[in-house]
Order: sequence, then C-alpha cells, then structure tokens
Amino acid sequence: MSNVIGRCVGETSLIEVNFISKKMPQVGEYVSLKYDDKNVLGMIESLVRGSVSISDEIFDPQTIAKIKEIEGDDHYIRGSIRILGDINDNLRIPRTPAPPGTEIIPASESDLQGIFQKENSLSLGTLITQDNVEVKVDLEKMFSRHMAILAMTGAGKSNTVAVVVDGILEYNGCVVIFDMHSEYNINFNNGEAKVIHPQINPLYMTFSEMKRLARIGGGAVLQERYFLESYRMASRDIRNGDTKNREFITIMKEYLEAWESGRLSFRGQDVEGDKPIIDVLNKIGDLEQRYSSIINANAGNILSKLELGKANIIDLGSVDEKAAEIIVSHILRNALQNNKKWLRQADSGEKLPLNHPVFFVLEEAHILAPNNRDTESKLWISRIAREGRKFGLGLCLVSQSPKSIDPDSLSQANNMIILRLVEPKDQRHVQSASESLSEDLVQQLPSLNIGEAVVLGLMTKIPALVKIHEHKNKEFGQDLAVIDIWKKSEEDTRKRFEDEKNDVLNLGGDY
Ligand SMILES: Nc1ncnc2c1ncn2[C@@H]1O[C@H](COP(=O)(O)OP(=O)(O)OP(=O)(O)O)[C@@H](O)[C@H]1O
Ligand SMILES: [Mg+2]
Repeated sequence: MSNVIGRCVGETSLIEVNFISKKMPQVGEYVSLKYDDKNVLGMIESLVRGSVSISDEIFDPQTIAKIKEIEGDDHYIRGSIRILGDINDNLRIPRTPAPPGTEIIPASESDLQGIFQKENSLSLGTLITQDNVEVKVDLEKMFSRHMAILAMTGAGKSNTVAVVVDGILEYNGCVVIFDMHSEYNINFNNGEAKVIHPQINPLYMTFSEMKRLARIGGGAVLQERYFLESYRMASRDIRNGDTKNREFITIMKEYLEAWESGRLSFRGQDVEGDKPIIDVLNKIGDLEQRYSSIINANAGNILSKLELGKANIIDLGSVDEKAAEIIVSHILRNALQNNKKWLRQADSGEKLPLNHPVFFVLEEAHILAPNNRDTESKLWISRIAREGRKFGLGLCLVSQSPKSIDPDSLSQANNMIILRLVEPKDQRHVQSASESLSEDLVQQLPSLNIGEAVVLGLMTKIPALVKIHEHKNKEFGQDLAVIDIWKKSEEDTRKRFEDEKNDVLNLGGDY
C-alpha cells in the first residue's frame, strides 16, 4: 500500500508548502518531499478538513444530513508544511522550492533517529507523533545559549526541570536550582540533591543589596546618605582589620548612634536633624530581625558550598520575595565575578570558590526578572543572559507567566521548551522573544496535554513536538486531594468530640 500522505498544491516556497490529502496526518508529524535528488524534511504545522459539497453557504441541517448520507466521510484535508532542510545536505534549506504535485511521504524513522541522536546529549522524551523516536538535545548548546521552560501552571515545568537536571548530572555537571517552593528535594537518578539553606555574610553584600533588604529607598535621600556612609565606614574598618570582632551590621549601628548622639561629627558637618538617623537605625533593626535566618556574619562565601555532580538546591521556600531576589542576585553576581577571574586569570594563584561551569535554574523567573520593575536579581540575570556563555554560566528561566518576564532576558534564551500555554498575551510575548516559534506552532500550544512540549532552539537541529519523560519522582507537584483532606479533618474533629464526651461521662459528669 502506498504510504503517500498527499501532494503539494498551489505555489510552493523555500520555507513552506501547502498540501491536499485524503488521509489524516498529525500536526507535528515529520514528512519528506523528494525532488531534484533532494530529500527535504518538513513538519506538518496546520491541518483543516473540509467538504466540497457541505459548504458554509448551506443553512438547513436537514440538507446537510442528506448530503452526508450520500457523501459519507469523503472529505479533503488541507494543511501546511514548514520546510526544515535537506537531509542529504546537512539540513540546509534547499535553493529551489518543491514542484507543485510533489508527493508527501512520512519521514523515515532512521532519518529522524539520525537527527535526534547526538553526542553529548540529553534525552528529553519521545516524539509525540512517533513514540519510538527518542528526542535528544545538544547539552553544550543548551548550556551556552540558555533555555526557558514556559507553560501554564500544572503543565509539567518542574517535571521537565527534573529531567533536564538529571541529564546534566549524568555528565557530572554542576546545577543550581533556585527553589522558590521547596519542591526539589527529590531523588535524582544520576546524582544527589544537596539542599542549601542560604546564609549571606553582610561583608560580601553590595551597598545596593543591603539597602534593598533594609527597605531604604524611594525619596529617602537623607536616610540613604547616612546608610551609605555607615556602610562605607564599616567596610573600611573591616578591611583595616579594625573591628575587635564586631560584626558588620553592629559597626554600622555604632557609627549611626555616634552621629546621632553627637559623639562623632558626620563628615565634619552637623547632622541634619536626628530623625533620618533614627529611621535608619530602626530599619537596620527590622532587617536584623526579619532576616535573621539568612544573614550570618560568620557565613563564608556561599559559592564554596556548590558541588559538582550534585543538584544544588538553594531553598527559598521560607524567605520573602525581597530576600529571594537578594539571594539570587548575590549568588549570580558572585558567580559571574568568580568565573571571570577563573577564566581570565587562570594562573594568578588566587584560590577561588568555583572553578567550573554552573547551570542555574530559576523557578518563578517572572518574579526574579520581572518585565515592569527593576530588581537586583533582574540586573544579574540579564547580565548572565548576555555574557554568561563566555564565562561558563548557563541559565534556565522557568515561568508560568511568560508575559511578565523581562523581554531582554527572555530573548537571550535561545532554547525553549514550551508546554501547554493558553493565554494569548503569554503566547505573543514568547513569540516575540523567539524567532523560531511560528504562528502555526503557537496555535498548537493550547492543545498540548500535560508533559507535551514544543522544543525549539539551537539545542535541537529541528523543532519538535515532544512528550517529555515522566520523572520517576511521581509525587512531584501533585494537586492536593482537597476533598479527602476536608473529609478526614471532619472525621478527626468528630472523633475528638466523642472522646471528650466519653471522658466527661466516665468521670460521672453531665454532657
Ligand atoms: N511528562 C510528564 N508525563 C507524565 N506526567 C507529567 C509529566 N509532566 C508533568 N506531569 C504530571 O503533572 C503534574 C504537574 O507537573 P509539574 O509539577 O511539573 O507542573 P508545573 O508546570 O511545574 O506546575 P506549577 O506551575 O504548579 O509549578 C505532576 O503531577 C506530574 O506528575
Ligand atoms: Mg512547578
């Protein structure tokens, strides 16, 4: 039996052809067009089904029923194919379009396996349309050109992260996951999860990180001036070894108190009223109280905790968004500065906490690198997005709200795994960040099932519709069984009530 799916019709171009068929193929299926000694690979991107006799000019359902009785299911199928390249010529786009009438046949399994099997690769899943073809992506390109995993909530982002992380651990890589919901302390197949409860030594914080944590900002010019000067003085004293074991924040407070009481003059001037200094002291007090779990004057450089061959989980589940931003920016800034030194001054003899590449996974990327406001973390995310590949730092932005992510950072993510995405604004934002996401592929995004994804970018030679492997960690991100929990709580309450009643009756009381 012929395996011809259909034939090209109308005008064909170098990048797209339309076809007519009698058989129903699937969107995402790969096809082959053979002409002029070429074996051109294409992907079916859209399909419609129609009937010449049942047109939308008929307004009577009875008439339609009668025509259908005679015609049966004799419909035509019209579709479009995106041209991906000539398999005989290393997937280069052919220089001549397919002649109209060219046969369209399914791409052979061996051709597809050849395209998706790579050296140094990571297995993401299987083709949705052919589950015997495994999809492997190029790990080096995924790392150096960054990645985004985007989808509506519950569509399978965290599961995809787990599959990617496991793939990196197979090569003894170093992964850092900024875990906003404390959900990644799971068993990976190829390495351990090392949970790190982040602690930062104020000594290693920048003025602006510190200022943000202390919530000094807006128009508080005087507060900022006193805060900055106390920060400078504390840094200077610590550099000079002039601290008598006092901590950074304690030294800042001592300067502020001395200016406030007049024991010290502020840069040779009188202070401009005590209130701004008292306000700064209060804010530092709040900072110490609110962030006592993450600020630690004895903590070393957090980078030295990161280990090769492990999923290093920075647990941000119990800190607020401001602290999460600061921790992320602190780690990214230090990693960039560290790796610049590592690669540029390889023989300077300085002992660095890190001397290898690191892949950073940022969950809730729309909070850490938001579209419409500036945050400390956004600054460093966008810097690593731009410069990271030269210094061995890869980024993976994960988000359920792509429209709220900083477009500069998102557009640096050349590789994308997009699972089910329904909201048109999200779709448009992703499309404007990625030149390889065609309109037809966007149309597919709402109809994907859980764990199904469009995979794009340099890490894959051709775009693919992939069923991502299910990570063995089955508990992952499951919805709460709300009704069961309520039922159980009600039973517990009733039992407690019965027990109390029996106790009272046993003691001879009335109930
Ligand atoms: N590839 C897959 N195969 C089978 N099941 C999957 C797959 N991906 C996800 N699931 C299931 O779907 C559920 C939600 O997955 P996951 O937690 O990864 O979604 P998410 O997009 O990260 O959600 P959230 O937005 O809440 O973080 C999980 O119970 C998981 O087991
Ligand atoms: Mg998730």
